[in-house]
Amino acid sequence: MKIRTDFLIIGSGIAGLTYAIKVATDFPDKSILVVTKSNELESNTRYAQGGIAAVLIPSESDYQSHYQDTLIAGDFLNSSSIVDLTVKSASARIGEIISWGASFDKNGHSLYDLCLEGGHSQKRILHHKDITGLEIQRTLLNKIKEFPSIKILTHFFANDLILHPRHSDTCIGAQFINIATEKEYKVFSEKTIVCTGGIGQVYKNTTNPLIATGDGIAMAARAGAAIESMEFVQFHPTALFSKGENPSFLISEAVRGAGAILVNHKGNPFMNNYSGLGSLAPRDIVARAIEHEMKKEQAEHVYLDCTNIPIASFRNDFPNIYYKCRSINIEPDRDLIPVVPAAHYLCGGIKTDQWGQCTIKNLYAIGECASTGLHGANRLASNSLLEALVFAHQAYVHSTASLSKASPSTLPEIHSEKPEKLTTADIEADRIKSSINSLMTDHAGIVRNTGSILSGIKELDTISEEISLLKSSYKKTEILNLAGIAGLILRASLQRKENKGLYYNTDLIQPKHKIRA
Ligand code: FAD
Ligand code: SIN
Repeated sequence: MKIRTDFLIIGSGIAGLTYAIKVATDFPDKSILVVTKSNELESNTRYAQGGIAAVLIPSESDYQSHYQDTLIAGDFLNSSSIVDLTVKSASARIGEIISWGASFDKNGHSLYDLCLEGGHSQKRILHHKDITGLEIQRTLLNKIKEFPSIKILTHFFANDLILHPRHSDTCIGAQFINIATEKEYKVFSEKTIVCTGGIGQVYKNTTNPLIATGDGIAMAARAGAAIESMEFVQFHPTALFSKGENPSFLISEAVRGAGAILVNHKGNPFMNNYSGLGSLAPRDIVARAIEHEMKKEQAEHVYLDCTNIPIASFRNDFPNIYYKCRSINIEPDRDLIPVVPAAHYLCGGIKTDQWGQCTIKNLYAIGECASTGLHGANRLASNSLLEALVFAHQAYVHSTASLSKASPSTLPEIHSEKPEKLTTADIEADRIKSSINSLMTDHAGIVRNTGSILSGIKELDTISEEISLLKSSYKKTEILNLAGIAGLILRASLQRKENKGLYYNTDLIQPKHKIRA
């Protein structure tokens, strides 16, 4: 089946929904189709805990400090102009979602209750308890109901971009599979916006939900778009250690911001051996330190000691984390919380300019799937929701400045439903996914070495042969995408000749943050 729309948005997280709302507000006659492979709520966005980093009241020194913290966390591989743009756009963009209904916690003086996370030199993080992402996702989903021109199609899987038959540098839409029926659809669009989120599911332990399989990046790579910085995978230091849980539950960095500290199995704090910033050092340093401690103690996790946080504040500030801990018989004011690093965020992705434009015409990428240059070699905590808001706006400005005069298209009624049963192809695909997960965890984890990266690439070739034998289904493409992402990470790792930020190869000399024994 063929469909025509003016704007095709792939993904219903903060990036896709924000872009949709902005276009619908100013161009009510244009049709906007948002397609998502799960239900409309499921996304990395809905799990975001800590909050959004922002300078709310314009002040040159506060801009400077957010700018500097972002560059320091990114090991100065960031694009300074993109950091500047992002930091200075924050208050306008956050003002917008507040005007759409998002609520952020305030203190007793009716001022925003800003909190602290690793790598931030001052409190600048807006949050809604410890469920900031859910608050934002709910707000955006509520807001889009106001616009009849926006249609959301759930449980449709984007499997490839469509390029112009004569101008292969121009995108004209995307192909989809209705997951329940396996029927194929072609959607033709004037502008196509990829907002497909992260890649966490390429690793064994991840905080990312099942949707995070890097589809948008893999599709864009197949279409010939430039992809960059794939070696910079961020591992969050403190995912709850709980074997077999996918995704891993996050213990927000804001808990360390409130005073919790990392301790080893003897109960001794260890972070001061690695950084003067202790448990609140940037994530790359903390995750490597934990990995080092775990190796030293031959342990599967370390602990987060929250016993110095009064239980009433813990319950009030982190209700979601509190209830999760209680559900597994952990009392945060008495017991240590077992934590382990888990794949959390991809700093690289589809290369874009300051307008969210990819290297293919009429194709934009926003949010976690994009590489704008904001994060450099390591993302500063809570800069990701901000990036999605800022670049949804940038892409909206650019993509609507050059619309054709063609009469707006109207969307046909299409019905989607939740798929009911697992097929044998799905089960086989899951087995192959586990092999990719083990491979990536063993060969492209927090600490890498060149020999292991090379053998990972070889192993991946064998796995890719198995994928080609899978019966055709959306699952086959999803697994192909995971293997594609794995290949991009491994090959980008080989190309990096210097340890920077999140990338740490023991064969490279003079790593900047050398691990002390
Ligand atoms: P997502 O929100 O992941 O949305 C992606 C969308 O694309 C989904 O709707 C998905 O179904 C859809 N999709 C994917 N592939 C396809 C396909 N093939 N076809 C159709 N649809 C597809 N960042 C912060 O700044 N602050 C935080 O406090 C914070 N906490 C976090 C906590 C957790 C547990 C996690 C996992 C992440 C956190 N992050 C945080 C990171 C942040 O949440 C994400 O980077 C951000 O939400 C990404 O938004 P997005 O719109 O780009 O992608
Ligand atoms: C957290 O709450 O620790 C996650 C914040 C982030 O990923 O930016």
